[in-house]
Amino acid sequence: MKSVIYAATAAAAFTGALAAPSTPKSKRQMGADCSAVSLSGNAFAQYEGYANSYYAAEVEAAVEQISDPDLAAAAARVADIPTFMWLDTRAKIDILEPELQMVPCDEIIGLVIYDLPGRDCAAKASNGELSYDQIDVYRSEYIDPIAEIISRYPGIPMALVIEPDSLPNLVTNADLQTCQDSASAYREGVAYALEQLNFDNVVMYLDAGHGGWLGWDDNLEPGAQEIADAYQRAGSPSQVMGVASNVAGWNAFSMNPGEFANADDAQWNSAQDEQRYAELFSPLLEQNGMPGQFIVDTGRNAVQGLRDEWGDWCNVDGAGFGVRPTSDTGDSNVDAFVWVKPGGESDGTSDTSADRYDSYCGKPDAFKPSPEAGTWNQEYFEMLVRNADPPL
Ligand code: GLC
Repeated sequence: MKSVIYAATAAAAFTGALAAPSTPKSKRQMGADCSAVSLSGNAFAQYEGYANSYYAAEVEAAVEQISDPDLAAAAARVADIPTFMWLDTRAKIDILEPELQMVPCDEIIGLVIYDLPGRDCAAKASNGELSYDQIDVYRSEYIDPIAEIISRYPGIPMALVIEPDSLPNLVTNADLQTCQDSASAYREGVAYALEQLNFDNVVMYLDAGHGGWLGWDDNLEPGAQEIADAYQRAGSPSQVMGVASNVAGWNAFSMNPGEFANADDAQWNSAQDEQRYAELFSPLLEQNGMPGQFIVDTGRNAVQGLRDEWGDWCNVDGAGFGVRPTSDTGDSNVDAFVWVKPGGESDGTSDTSADRYDSYCGKPDAFKPSPEAGTWNQEYFEMLVRNADPPL
């Protein structure tokens, strides 16, 4: 096996990194016909990335609305870039099985597990469907059905990002009543997910925020402990490889001096980019008894210098699609650059009268107007395409 093959075939052919497969996709074996696999080590270096049809359909619909032919051609290429698929409600579980049936045996599909009780406890934009006291519903109506479906596709390699923002919020936002209320459901829910989804053909990465979050000197050790506790509570599952960082985030992987190196509080944070965050955090995870590999979301981090403050997270104006998914990271701590947040889907509404309006989505550096979190923002998508670096 080649050591660097995490890229969609179409995108790879475009960049010239890989020859196109000799068998057309439609004739290749897929889904339940694939023979069982057992993943170990860096799965992203062993399989090509799968570009899911849900995001491809969003992108294709967007392309139809673009009149400039050059922009349309660039935008169309995004449909072939492997991007994670979010199972962000119980109803969304319905898209999982039809998708798994289409995954070729030599590709790895990325999925995001994202429906914890009391979800998004420190913000409002992504509040979920379950309240903090519904851990039983999370187990029986969310995780169990997903596990059941996965169990029928032992030949499809899958990479799971587990519950973005959840444990990091417990580390840094414990003063909020909403996060206190959610704490036990988060801990129990994350451990349950890790335990139930620990199939041989699956690799899992727990969300670890980003360098501007758990990367602060004072947050590193408590952050590593919180995450490693969940891992141990789940019985140290074999398929947990480490953590995902910068999910739906904006940080550069490598930038020296860092984007916020001149901020007043910069002296308290040595994780000025995601590479340095991985370098600091990975050994702490290992010291706390868990694997410390990283995957880093580079989907929207092409342009730096856009945020007024490091913590600004909502629809950052001026952003562009970043480095394509690849296992060629040049860093032994980092298994892959991945596109987790589907670029073009909003981070939160800018409508001040909406229930889930969060003031971060009204900040001067946030793109407006923006629709509800997870729904399509055509203008924003076109901006990501125009500002892509490397260009599409
Ligand atoms: C946000 C939304 C969620 C969506 C995800 C990916 O977190 O709350 O519904 O699936 O972004 O766009």
